[in-house]
Amino acid sequence: MASFLTLVSFYLFLFSTWLTTIFGIFSEQSPVSTYAKRIEKMTRLHFYFHDILDGTKPTAIRIVPPPNKSVGQFGTTYMIDDPLTEGPEKTSKLVGRAQGMYALASQHDSGLLMVINFAFLEGMYNGSALTILGRNPVLDMVREMPIVGGSGVFRFARGYALASTVSLSPKTGDAVVEYNVSVLHF
Ligand SMILES: *[C@@H]1O[C@H](CO)[C@@H](O)[C@H](O)[C@H]1NC(C)=O
Ligand SMILES: *[C@@H]1O[C@H](CO)[C@@H](O)[C@H](O)[C@H]1NC(C)=O
Ligand SMILES: *[C@@H]1O[C@H](CO)[C@@H](O)[C@H](O)[C@H]1NC(C)=O
Repeated sequence: MASFLTLVSFYLFLFSTWLTTIFGIFSEQSPVSTYAKRIEKMTRLHFYFHDILDGTKPTAIRIVPPPNKSVGQFGTTYMIDDPLTEGPEKTSKLVGRAQGMYALASQHDSGLLMVINFAFLEGMYNGSALTILGRNPVLDMVREMPIVGGSGVFRFARGYALASTVSLSPKTGDAVVEYNVSVLHF
């Protein structure tokens, strides 16, 4: 008898596993405390962003020219794969890449729309990324942009980036920008 019950529960177990496999699990909830028990960390990063528009190997390429009726350069869009380095020199150690887009999103001032992933290559951050989505008034001395998420060690990330132009070539548009990023993540 006992072995019969064991057999029945074994089949029930198999059956429920089979159901789960067939139908999958669309959603699952767990108390936030499961995550909150893990210690939230604050990470600060400091690096330099090289926006290279000129030369034979540009890392920022204009993919949308200013539309005919645009005021100034409104609507112009660039796709970038810009190196991020430890120091301000282009030859300084590569710590990551800024991959994404920026577009001239203001008809009144220098406000860019930034949609960019910082894909890191250095040490424990190699393979992890942070995502910036925000407004960048490039002519301001210091610009603040939101970090809206991340992956890898930066799962659940939220925070902000402060950016300041270190050098800008008026002739080519090439720029070096200093970034300080502060993020909370698990
Ligand atoms: C934009 O302007 C150019 C040159 O002035 C013209 O050839 C082209 O047809 C215009 N495009 C549109 C969509 O109006
Ligand atoms: C980062 O990870 C990639 C892929 O795993 C590896 O090829 C590369 O050597 C790593 N870079 C550093 C600096 O550790
Ligand atoms: C970044 O932080 C360093 C050190 O605190 C500071 O000297 C620099 O001015 C900051 N830059 C920006 C753009 O916030």
